[in-house]
Amino acid sequence: HSGIPHPHIDIASRTPLYQKLVKKLHEVRKVLGHSRQLTLAEKILYSHLDNPEESLLTNTQNGANIRGTANLKLKPDRVAMQDASAQMALLQFMSCGLPSTAVPASIHCDHMIVGEKGADTDLPASIKGNKEVFDFLESAAKKYGIEFWPPGAGIIHQSVLENYSAPGLMMLGTDSHTPNAGGLGAIAIGVGGADAVDALVDAPWELKAPKILGVELVGELSGWSSPKDVIMYLAGQLTVRGGTGYVIEYFGPGVETLSCTGMATICNMGAEVGATTSLFPFSAQHVPYLVATHREPIARAAQAIASAPSVQNLLRADPDAQYDKVIAIDLSTLEPHINGPMTPDLSTPLSKFASVVEEYNWPRTFGAGLIGSCTNSSYQDMTRAEDLVKQASAAGLSPKADFFITPGSEQIRATLDRDDTLSTFSSAGGTILANACGPCIGQWKRTDGVKKGESNAIFTSYNRNFRGRNDGNPLTMNFLASPELVTAMSYAGSTTFNPITDTLPTPSGTPFRFSPPKGSDLPAAGFAEGNPEFFATPGVPTPSEEVKVDPSSTRLALLDPFPPFPNSELAGLRVLYKVKGQCTTDTISAAGPWLKYKGHLPNISENTLIGAINAATDEVNTAYDVDGTTSGIPDLAKRWRDAGIEWLVVAEHNYGEGSAREHAALQPRYLGGRVILAKSFARIHETNLKKQGVVPLIFVNETDYDLIDACDDVTTVGLLDVLKSGGKGSVELLVKKKGGSEVRVQTKHTLSGDQCGFIIAGSALNLLAMKGKE
Ligand code: F3S
Repeated sequence: HSGIPHPHIDIASRTPLYQKLVKKLHEVRKVLGHSRQLTLAEKILYSHLDNPEESLLTNTQNGANIRGTANLKLKPDRVAMQDASAQMALLQFMSCGLPSTAVPASIHCDHMIVGEKGADTDLPASIKGNKEVFDFLESAAKKYGIEFWPPGAGIIHQSVLENYSAPGLMMLGTDSHTPNAGGLGAIAIGVGGADAVDALVDAPWELKAPKILGVELVGELSGWSSPKDVIMYLAGQLTVRGGTGYVIEYFGPGVETLSCTGMATICNMGAEVGATTSLFPFSAQHVPYLVATHREPIARAAQAIASAPSVQNLLRADPDAQYDKVIAIDLSTLEPHINGPMTPDLSTPLSKFASVVEEYNWPRTFGAGLIGSCTNSSYQDMTRAEDLVKQASAAGLSPKADFFITPGSEQIRATLDRDDTLSTFSSAGGTILANACGPCIGQWKRTDGVKKGESNAIFTSYNRNFRGRNDGNPLTMNFLASPELVTAMSYAGSTTFNPITDTLPTPSGTPFRFSPPKGSDLPAAGFAEGNPEFFATPGVPTPSEEVKVDPSSTRLALLDPFPPFPNSELAGLRVLYKVKGQCTTDTISAAGPWLKYKGHLPNISENTLIGAINAATDEVNTAYDVDGTTSGIPDLAKRWRDAGIEWLVVAEHNYGEGSAREHAALQPRYLGGRVILAKSFARIHETNLKKQGVVPLIFVNETDYDLIDACDDVTTVGLLDVLKSGGKGSVELLVKKKGGSEVRVQTKHTLSGDQCGFIIAGSALNLLAMKGKE
């Protein structure tokens, strides 16, 4: 714990290129004028722009109106991927033929591991069940120089915090809780695989310039209140949509009172209010954490930057920086909160919880308390929970609810093991699960006899509590709370127990009341290393490595490049389906049981649009062929594709809203889709379509939606010119109806010059592969 870098840690690749970033910041200031005051998030984001002048001055009234308007073209420093989303990201990366990734990257095997009996049996069983996927990821990582964290090494966000996050860094992660890294002063954004590939191939990654929500912290936490309660309270204030389009930037004197891992917990759950990301400024608390995790040189470099005058100070907001909104929180008066059930923004202060339980008739008892996960498994969290367990054990008590502990990484597990924290938990009857997502992502095999469809409650220190998330039972109510509260309440097994005011009966007859929990931010004896089997492989490319994909696999399939655009207009396109109403990325590519095919495009394509409502008949997933025969949408799409007929989909507003899931663009393309014609698009999905070579067109007159039907024959007029001119002009569709009549539909598009290049080449990756060969 002396801060000496470990031989297996490549400190150079983990240190942000501060000199380069400060130089870029200087360029940004030149573009915007030196008197312009910037927030911390703006400083870090804008100093990662590929071309500050182009991004900051286009469409922004000369820089006056950047937030919410400008399209930032960014060059992130690093990429992290989890095992489920890494598969398609790597398959796409492979198809562009580069020898290694353009920026440092890491893969973390965490989502595909169950939590059932405990780490010793669960981990080997999960490795066996997912061997071909893990082998693929490991071999691809080795070939392209990506650091590979094997199953059992830890949960992506915990490993990233311990190893890669750093003040001023900008990273992308293929998981929605990537903002966890903001606790250590990084801008870390959760994205889909196709976005991660942009960074991996050194193409600029686009982001609409976020607005900035400032959260001012004053005072200091005490007693039962914990960092988790900051974000639980804020979620109640903002709701699950309140952070959309914003970066949440924390500031104020309260920041210095929080531990680094506590700040990470707060940033982690910014995802629950829809924020682009959350971050804290470089704080004195970051230094001991960086030193304890063997990154002292980064701490020193950050300190040097942070002490520079404001103009060069990359790690702190300018003194008069303006936020789009400000919320103030007084940590000294903040109560512990319990959020849920079913949604993370239903927030209740502990003192009111018992009466709310009565009011809504929620279950009075609960069967399981689960602590840890990527959100709350720090040394501070676990030692505070341990303190409560020790108090209860001394009074002769055992938990009434089943008690599960998920360490976030091997480093934290080994440290807690050495310091006897884990043995305290297990002697009290707790089960230590593998260092992986487990019950947080539905990989929880409950053994307590609660049946599917049975209403029941659980308490967790996790971050999400949507219906069915943990055990697949839609009637399980997951109440979110700090690990301290979950632990104390597990001893009562009662949802109405308030550990601050209530007592528990003991075998000796004396009523027992918990004292407020005490713990340590960091281990006095430093972090233990843990089992070397769980160390990451080095990020050095091995070109001779063969990527392991079994041709007979049902879960993985290499991608074949999509064909380029013909040197002509598109003629003989057929309307596959006219969608009525909402069409989200879930409608286009369903999740649930389909997730196991994420790395197998042909297999996952069998779910294409199966949630879509037929505008003519109101049926779901029922498509009509020209001769009137019906079939599922994917079947008809395949039949037409195999007969050489390309197709389009007609849809209403906000087509593709929901997530950045690239499968929702890849699948239609794979099945022969060429055009999506909609009243409007969700921006991220529209970009994803273009990346995969599908042309998104928008009705000029929304009422024209009524003129076009399934099986109509469509010819484009002007599309080739638009593509060849880099986006100039518009496209008309010549629609031949069944009876032989013809209508014309005017459309508009948002294709940029670059994006026209993607369409002509067949996909963004095709274009890249072509450029690579030039
Ligand atoms: Fe894993 Fe749950 Fe975090 S799925 S990454 S532990 S939110």
